[in-house]
Amino acid sequence: MAKIVTFSGSVRVGSVNTALLNSAAAFATAAGHEVDAIDLGAAQLPLYDGDVQANHGIPMAAQAMAERIASADGVLIASPEYNGGPSPLLKNTIDWVTRVEMTLFAGKHIGLLAASPGGGGGAHGLGIVTQIFTYMQCDLHDETFTLPKAFEVIADGEVGGDDADRLSAWVDAYVAHL
Ligand SMILES: Cc1cc2nc3c(=O)[nH]c(=O)nc-3n(C[C@H](O)[C@H](O)[C@H](O)COP(=O)(O)O)c2cc1C
Repeated sequence: MAKIVTFSGSVRVGSVNTALLNSAAAFATAAGHEVDAIDLGAAQLPLYDGDVQANHGIPMAAQAMAERIASADGVLIASPEYNGGPSPLLKNTIDWVTRVEMTLFAGKHIGLLAASPGGGGGAHGLGIVTQIFTYMQCDLHDETFTLPKAFEVIADGEVGGDDADRLSAWVDAYVAHL
């Protein structure tokens, strides 16, 4: 059994990215793995600023988050696509937790997911996230999972139909590499 940490780059109520991530987590749990879901909204991290760190230190919430990530074998991350990139919440979180430990994500098996209302499924945004995690020398899962037309295929907070089968197969391949 492996331990997988999850976090979503959207804390919006009704977020399709969080719904997609939770559906993926449910498949991982059903396969016998331990999932630790981090709620980025609860952390309330300030926008990263070197002066904030110098004057107040690294927020306790970032330190706690970094500990949970450090103890995991893998990380599943969903991010909305904002103007072709990831959400600022996701980038800000990555920046704070890597102040705790620069190599926090190095060698970890990272799976990236995105959902969007349009036909692109958030693929552009994940391109940038892929660059970030490649830079940090992670063991990136070779395929990202994108969900186009997300508001049409998510019902009651769950991915349905053919996309659920596609997601289940993707999670199987991801956990096989843990
Ligand atoms: C500032 C901003 C920029 C956006 N840019 C894109 C974009 O580049 N591509 C895209 O597919 N959707 C874009 N969207 C729409 C988001 O995909 C949509 O709001 C989505 O529901 C956000 O994810 P969430 O439901 O998980 O919060 C953008 C939304 C916002 C607020």
